[in-house]
Amino acid sequence: MRAAYVRWVGPDSVIEIGDLPVPTPGASEVLVKVTAVAINPVDNYIRTGRFQTPVPLPFVVGRDLVGTVVESGSPALGFAPGERVWCNSMGHDGRPGAISEYVVVPVDRLYRLPDGADPEQGVALAQPAATAYLGCFVHGNVRAGETVFVGGGGGNIGLAAIRMARMAGARVLATARPDDHQRCRDAGAEVVVDYHAAPMVDRMLDAAGGVDVYWETSGRHDFDRVERVAAPGCRVLVTAAAEQRPTVPLPQLYMRDVSLIGFVISRATVDQLRAAADLINPELAAGTLTARIADRLPLGRTAEAYRRLAEGRVRGRLLVDLAGRTATR
Ligand SMILES: NC(=O)c1ccc[n+]([C@@H]2O[C@H](COP(=O)([O-])OP(=O)(O)OC[C@H]3O[C@@H](n4cnc5c(N)ncnc54)[C@H](OP(=O)(O)O)[C@@H]3O)[C@@H](O)[C@H]2O)c1
Repeated sequence: MRAAYVRWVGPDSVIEIGDLPVPTPGASEVLVKVTAVAINPVDNYIRTGRFQTPVPLPFVVGRDLVGTVVESGSPALGFAPGERVWCNSMGHDGRPGAISEYVVVPVDRLYRLPDGADPEQGVALAQPAATAYLGCFVHGNVRAGETVFVGGGGGNIGLAAIRMARMAGARVLATARPDDHQRCRDAGAEVVVDYHAAPMVDRMLDAAGGVDVYWETSGRHDFDRVERVAAPGCRVLVTAAAEQRPTVPLPQLYMRDVSLIGFVISRATVDQLRAAADLINPELAAGTLTARIADRLPLGRTAEAYRRLAEGRVRGRLLVDLAGRTATR
């Protein structure tokens, strides 16, 4: 089978396209024919060794996939050939990655793609929507009636976080560039302001009378702002940090019971990921949660996809198409 893999840890230039043997599913695994894979920032961290996790070589790159079941390791697993499925946790913790024609997925990490769901949306949302679930329902513990701030609301995680915080019954305030404001409002944000206009962001947050969950999804943190707007008991979520070493006003935060909660989806348990999938699937079926898809590239251009992402030249999700639709591009 054709696959994108590395023989040693390194930059995108070490990604090779070649043939590897089709894997055989074990008793608790399912063989999936992959149709598309979404390109994630964390894939770059894993391939370069920045995120420490076992990387058995040769290592197929990529994490999130959508495809169809080919063969189940056991009939008891409940997956039949031809079923459409998705997964968002290959390619780390010793598991091979997703950018190959066939992937063996542990059954507890495999979710059915519901009828009516767009498979490209399924794979594009697989990681950001699950991250939003973890932020809102596991780490942020968003409760009805609370006020949630989502910075970077027009982004992949931000938009899903707005929708999920609304599902939890919270009031959501967001920042986004102006052409993303309507998307944020459609997802459930009550107020959206341009993140470039710092005084307007401050006014929006000051008017809120205290923020219970503060999530700057873009990774550009401003702890002076946090200090001013955090309500007692505020949970500040950190899921990206853009190489920053910000100054944190600790006395002002701990005296208000403010917690700083960092998390990565890579450490989520299979039960947490399953719960996220259970929430995401109805959204996919109804088309109520959508991701912006930036581009689709064929398998042979996998390294280019990772380079474009690392260079910050991408708005939305880049997909690697293994179904052959982009083969001539
Ligand atoms: N911890 C985890 O488990 C986890 C999981 C997935 C991703 N991540 C990380 O989370 C970050 C965001 O991911 P994503 O997929 O949501 O990225 P994304 O789709 O690129 O979204 C980022 C958003 O932030 C906006 N933005 C840029 N500068 C900003 C600023 N100064 N203030 C407020 N917003 C700003 C961007 O707006 P423009 O469109 O105007 O640029 C964009 O809408 C990435 O660094 C990613 O690596 C972490």
